[in-house]
Amino acid sequence: MADPTRAHFQSRLGFILAAAGSAVGLGNLWKFPYITGMNGGGAFVLIYLLAILLVGLPIMLGEVLLGRMAATSVIGAFRRLTGAPTPWSIFGVLGVLAGVIILSYYSVVAGWSLHYLRLTLDGALAAGDPKALADAFAALYADGATNVLWHAVFMAVTALIVARGVQKGVERAAKVMMPVLLIILAAMLVYATTLDSFARAFDFVFGMHTAALTPAGVLEALGHAFFTLSLGMGAMLTYGSYLSRRDDLVAASIATAVLDTLVALMACLVLFPITFAAGMAPASGPGLVFINMPIAFAQLPGGPLWSALFFTLLFFAALTSAISLLEVVAAYLIDERRWSRPRAVALLALLIFVLGIPSALSGSDDATFGAQVHWLGERNWFDTFDYLASNWLLPLGGLGIAAFCAWRLGDRQRRSAFAEGSPLGAFTPFYLSWLLLLRYLVPIAILLVMAHALGLL
Ligand code: TRP
Repeated sequence: MADPTRAHFQSRLGFILAAAGSAVGLGNLWKFPYITGMNGGGAFVLIYLLAILLVGLPIMLGEVLLGRMAATSVIGAFRRLTGAPTPWSIFGVLGVLAGVIILSYYSVVAGWSLHYLRLTLDGALAAGDPKALADAFAALYADGATNVLWHAVFMAVTALIVARGVQKGVERAAKVMMPVLLIILAAMLVYATTLDSFARAFDFVFGMHTAALTPAGVLEALGHAFFTLSLGMGAMLTYGSYLSRRDDLVAASIATAVLDTLVALMACLVLFPITFAAGMAPASGPGLVFINMPIAFAQLPGGPLWSALFFTLLFFAALTSAISLLEVVAAYLIDERRWSRPRAVALLALLIFVLGIPSALSGSDDATFGAQVHWLGERNWFDTFDYLASNWLLPLGGLGIAAFCAWRLGDRQRRSAFAEGSPLGAFTPFYLSWLLLLRYLVPIAILLVMAHALGLL
């Protein structure tokens, strides 16, 4: 059973930073501010906070719990916990598949942060001409070779870190990058508070503008709560499997969710004042980060410095998330197939790099690798992967993990594992509330999100 030679995190803080590193990503810095903008601010933020508390946190606790109980990666976890081969393992397979697919296009967007860091350092963004910056972004999107190059660089960095192992690679990278990320974000927030537009931005994010909230917005908040916490594909399960039995799993999971939420809210309070100060509307899509931010930085004192810090922030956030995606898949080959870590990581990184090439070419005109293939309606390869993973694989995986944890596990076993090392976990009303949410509210919420994705709601 318990394998004393299996990798584990050095400390609870190491787990929290690694798990928060996975959770804090492009979803917090780019997507959350933009969907908040689209949904009119305040009321949407409140729904999002409720979704994190009532849906996201219960699943996160369930994932980390299953991981620590099974002490193996996501495909093997179900068999280990039921004691025999079981159809539940399908959810683990979906998770690994989702990891491969998500990382293949996540790496392309992450590569853009490196490209923009380079443009900043070259002084190419300093003029701040809106038309030129919009053209520069369009040119990057259409430039297949540059996209493939940065995608390769980003995958190589991710692989080098994951290859070094759980403590020396994953944990150490998070311990270095997460504090830097938080410091940069805090510095930018302090700066943002000095802008005249801060009050307006604050009201936009926290004022109760209920009129702008729609039922679709509620479901979007729910779906995003899921994605931003890295749930549904076994990332938290895999990290939970490296958490020591002595550590307080409940407190560590809550700390992770709180950090992720703080970063998302801070990102809004940084991006909106800067956007408003430059006289721009809260825009939508990739434009907010890659077009509007450079325009705004060019108009502000110290612009190039803030721009360099901002794209470093984006790069670090994307990197710690990518590390978790690669770790889930690598852990499967290491735990279940007994591969050596370097071999597993090298092969997977190569595979994911190749699989990401069509995404890197999705904006270019040349039809190599079927960049112009439109499988699902009008979506190109990049959008198809994002759609499949975010709307289908992750919710299905989350449903499976939640159902297994809430309905299939024996109560005594689940309860003692939950309470192990945790005063809050041992507190019966807390345990029962968690179980109730996981049994009823979580599956209903996931089914609603899927019905919405299908256009039924
Ligand atoms: N949570 C990350 C973000 O907000 C994305 C991410 C990383 C992710 N790993 C994941 C999402 C695993 C789902 C599952 O950008």
